[in-house]
Amino acid sequence: MRFFQISYIIILIFLFNITLSKDISTFSNYKIIQQTNIEVNFDIDFTQKIINGNSKIYFKALSYGEVIVLDTKALNIYSVIDSDTGEKLNFTLDEQYKLSSLGVPLKIYKEFNKDDLITIVIKFSTTSECTAIDWLDPEQTSGKIYPFMYSQCQSIYCRELLPVQDTPAVKMPVYIGVTVVKPLLGLVGGIYKSEIDNGDTVTYFYEQKIPIPSYLITIAAGDLEMRQISDRTKIYAEREVVDKAAYEFSDTENYIELIEQYTFAYEWGEYNILVLPPSFPFGGMENPCLTFVSPSFIAGDKSLSWVIAHEISHSWSGNLVTMENWSDFWLNEGFTMFLERKIIERFLDKDMAKLNAMVSYSSYKDDVYAFGESKSFTSLRPYLVGRHPDDSFCTVPYEKGFNFVYYLENLINSNDDEGKDVFMIFMRRYLEEFKYGVVDYYQFRNYFEKFINNTFPSKSENILSQIDWKNWVEAPGFPPLENNFTNIYSTEVEKIVELFYKEELDDNFAETFKNWFTLLKQIFLNRINDKGQTLTDWQFNYLTNILNLTSGYNVEVEFSYFMLILKYGKNISQNVENALIDFLGHHGRINYLRPIYSEFYKRNKQSALATLNKYRSFYHAIVIKYIELDLKLIG
Ligand code: BES
Ligand code: ZN
Repeated sequence: MRFFQISYIIILIFLFNITLSKDISTFSNYKIIQQTNIEVNFDIDFTQKIINGNSKIYFKALSYGEVIVLDTKALNIYSVIDSDTGEKLNFTLDEQYKLSSLGVPLKIYKEFNKDDLITIVIKFSTTSECTAIDWLDPEQTSGKIYPFMYSQCQSIYCRELLPVQDTPAVKMPVYIGVTVVKPLLGLVGGIYKSEIDNGDTVTYFYEQKIPIPSYLITIAAGDLEMRQISDRTKIYAEREVVDKAAYEFSDTENYIELIEQYTFAYEWGEYNILVLPPSFPFGGMENPCLTFVSPSFIAGDKSLSWVIAHEISHSWSGNLVTMENWSDFWLNEGFTMFLERKIIERFLDKDMAKLNAMVSYSSYKDDVYAFGESKSFTSLRPYLVGRHPDDSFCTVPYEKGFNFVYYLENLINSNDDEGKDVFMIFMRRYLEEFKYGVVDYYQFRNYFEKFINNTFPSKSENILSQIDWKNWVEAPGFPPLENNFTNIYSTEVEKIVELFYKEELDDNFAETFKNWFTLLKQIFLNRINDKGQTLTDWQFNYLTNILNLTSGYNVEVEFSYFMLILKYGKNISQNVENALIDFLGHHGRINYLRPIYSEFYKRNKQSALATLNKYRSFYHAIVIKYIELDLKLIG
């Protein structure tokens, strides 16, 4: 009897683990049949702001089945054809899910047996409800003459661009054609192959041979110029920004080489960069062979070019080795933060990397307090059942993730008697082992433990027993241990912060401050933020009028300043509010807009709402959705 009870429990645990390792953010039946290759043509219609598409999808069946289920959202499906027989296949869009944030499953009726190879062709179009594409009218571009469009598929928006198994668990090569009206240029996250002149339009073909998850499928089109800045890097941008961008990101090749030294050779051939219009909702997006970057990061002095170090790093963690499901997002972002800071460490110095980690840890703490320490979204494995993966988007996967990897590095390296960088060896092997595939938390942990057992046969038990996996990875709240990022730079700033609070900083300091590098300015403002005290008139005036923080600084410094005065300023003068509104009309990055609007709204509902409405057509649809959720304007 007892034996049966125990085996019953074991079976339950087993089943539970299986459900955990399934991506719950897709309707597709990818455990039964998998897409192995996609060839798609996107015909871009700027006048109607839709795309007409034709997609050939190759599948391999893993077991017997009668239906192929794909993800869609807000798409029109016109026909599905079995490309081997030419036969029209029956399909339904399962409307009962219409209101689900995951979209509507497309069910294609086709019987298959294990190991069958099936190829289907789907004709479809996008609709005005699709948020995967941001359509910009000519007035919204720098050139003001031609329209512009770009896709953003991460996290689960690819299903709003084409019918697909929209899950990171399945990876495939893609071959993409984009048809655009002349003289626009069509770009894709792949390697350029050829083009066909169709008269009024041109079709550009690109290939991505390395298997990618659907969220990395990328297209963009606009009146773009190109500057080649190294053998493998081209910068694309509108004419007005392309030279500035080429200067700003001119260290790209150095960054790639530094991270190649830490890991292994870059495998994607080209590393190109597309500078988007300012409504782009992210700082950067690691689209393969075509990193997207926000123009807000063109500071003029390369001070924010680490965004490129971050996106380059994804070429290994995220793009070669991909998280298996959205609850394991930290395996993408935490590892990428780690690699990014390896670049900073080697390009600048170790203390600078620590300072960078310290600055971000402040934002991470703010996020944990904002969610509440017991909330699942503060865990490295957030609970996403019934949720859109973006709901959990915050600094947790980035910074808690980074801190865990950093902790593991110190633990491992401090155990090597010869002082070797054993963790670097681990990183290389891990990335080699899982490249072209996916990895979930259990696989990562397993692989790590095996590596430790092999590397330190006599001490492995002792080392592994020190790692509190549960509290680092599964439990919500702060990690069991805080890494020490003390560095030569921040120590200097602490003294200045003290003088600031004693109100003893003199006007001459403004000149010194001006010459500080960005991270120093940020840590200065963060420290004041960490104090959590209302600013006195002197303090407010010092920041605003002596340091002159409303103008002439880069976007990160301005953002920190605005957050600070919104949270802790006694009253905000009209001038400052105008500067804030101006900022909100120039930068579309979600990481700035969400926190600023939340604080702005708390202070001045009317003005915050008026500003949101004023810029509604400028912001990306995803950003508007989350601001409205934050302000509880929608449920
Ligand atoms: N992959 C992310 C952007 C992203 C995350 C898009 C989740 C959609 C859903 C990208 O690599 C990233 O982390 N961008 C950062 C910039 C970076 C320098 C930390 C961003 O946009 O804030
Ligand atoms: Zn990232």
